[in-house]
Amino acid sequence: MLGSLLTSVQRTTARTTRTSRLQASTRFASSSAALKAAEPIEIDAVPSHHLPTSNANEKEVFIHWDGGDWSKFHNIWLRDHCRCSECFHSVTKQRLVNTFEIPPDIEPVAVESKPEGLQVTWPAPKQHHVSMYPWSWLRQSSYDPPAAVATSEKVLWGSKIVQDPPTVPYDEVMAPDNHGLYKWLSRIDKFGFCFVSGVPSTAEATEELSNRIGFIRETHYGKFWDFTADLARGDTAYTNLALPAHTDNTYFTDPCGIQLFHLLSHTDGAGGATLLVDGFYVASILKELHPDVYALLARVPVTAHAAGEDDILYRATRPVLEHAEATGALRAVRWNNDDRSVVRGVPASSMLQWYDALRTWNKLLTSQDSEYWVQLAPGTAIAIDNHRVLHGRSAFTGKRRMCGAYIGADEYRSKLAVLSERFADASAHTEPRVRTVWSPGF
Ligand SMILES: [Fe+2]
Ligand SMILES: [Zn+2]
Repeated sequence: MLGSLLTSVQRTTARTTRTSRLQASTRFASSSAALKAAEPIEIDAVPSHHLPTSNANEKEVFIHWDGGDWSKFHNIWLRDHCRCSECFHSVTKQRLVNTFEIPPDIEPVAVESKPEGLQVTWPAPKQHHVSMYPWSWLRQSSYDPPAAVATSEKVLWGSKIVQDPPTVPYDEVMAPDNHGLYKWLSRIDKFGFCFVSGVPSTAEATEELSNRIGFIRETHYGKFWDFTADLARGDTAYTNLALPAHTDNTYFTDPCGIQLFHLLSHTDGAGGATLLVDGFYVASILKELHPDVYALLARVPVTAHAAGEDDILYRATRPVLEHAEATGALRAVRWNNDDRSVVRGVPASSMLQWYDALRTWNKLLTSQDSEYWVQLAPGTAIAIDNHRVLHGRSAFTGKRRMCGAYIGADEYRSKLAVLSERFADASAHTEPRVRTVWSPGF
């Protein structure tokens, strides 16, 4: 196993070490005593003449990147992030080093720029400990200055999406190589929804499709649902009434991440067109036209409830527009006016302003420019990011059979992250990337 890890990179490294030692800036002379061989690592080595330079002081290690940029890492941070086999479990990807045994004032005995990364030798009670940090990993992990965090590209859309809505064929999504699944989830990530065409019109096939993303989330509606308009559950979804654009589970602290549904049949009637609205698009317009209203919706918590059955009483209180604390970016839209509870959290002096704000939000949500209407037919399933895209439908007559499922946001994001790790930036002809202890993301 170890032999197979000793790739040509390591062999090259061994040959070039002497040269790189001469060229790299070294703050301390390497101690000859007990220098443990660094773990073999599977990364691309940097040619010696482009090596970043490195030096250390009692607090930090400085790295000067090729091109003039630099990064600083605290000594304790580096020691805590050693990913040798003693400090990090290569299979479970969990920390083994005891953070609390690291002296707060730990200082390297030596730092050295090597083609495969930064080598740091630490003092230890019995023997020195050698850490090797790949350059690319250090660059991505830089916090001083902070490295740019890669965010996925989102395409905000209005009614014109009707011309070319994101769609992936069922056969591709189900193919075992997972390329089609990656395509599907990437499009959901980008557009907030994506159709799947050519799905067999059965509950079984739709359930299998749902399971491609992750565990189906069981709720008071059941696990995988297969229903007609019979009010089997105490919710308007189980009627033939029109439903204005809304997100589901506003009454959960953690609303489902993905809602997948599939119209299996519609007989003896008409209507029931599906409505989709990009909540992020509408929020962006609101922010531009009415920043004060945007700020109010981002700040004022709204309570919602689910109480249509006697044995449940779900409640959650959150703002309509939820933002990430760290970045301030819009994270989720949570809106279902039908599920709104008693409004208590708004000061009396702001109550009229609050209703005005809701009216403005509703006006943008229901504008022709925002609404995308589509008449679904058996064979086309849809997956919706329930934290971003609102859905609804027009009233209908006749008998409709719908099936579908909820999938948790964590399950969806995990699957997307795994597939991105393997396939992002890789062409169809290259091998999927394999996870190592230095892969980005953990
Ligand atoms: Fe819904
Ligand atoms: Zn270690």
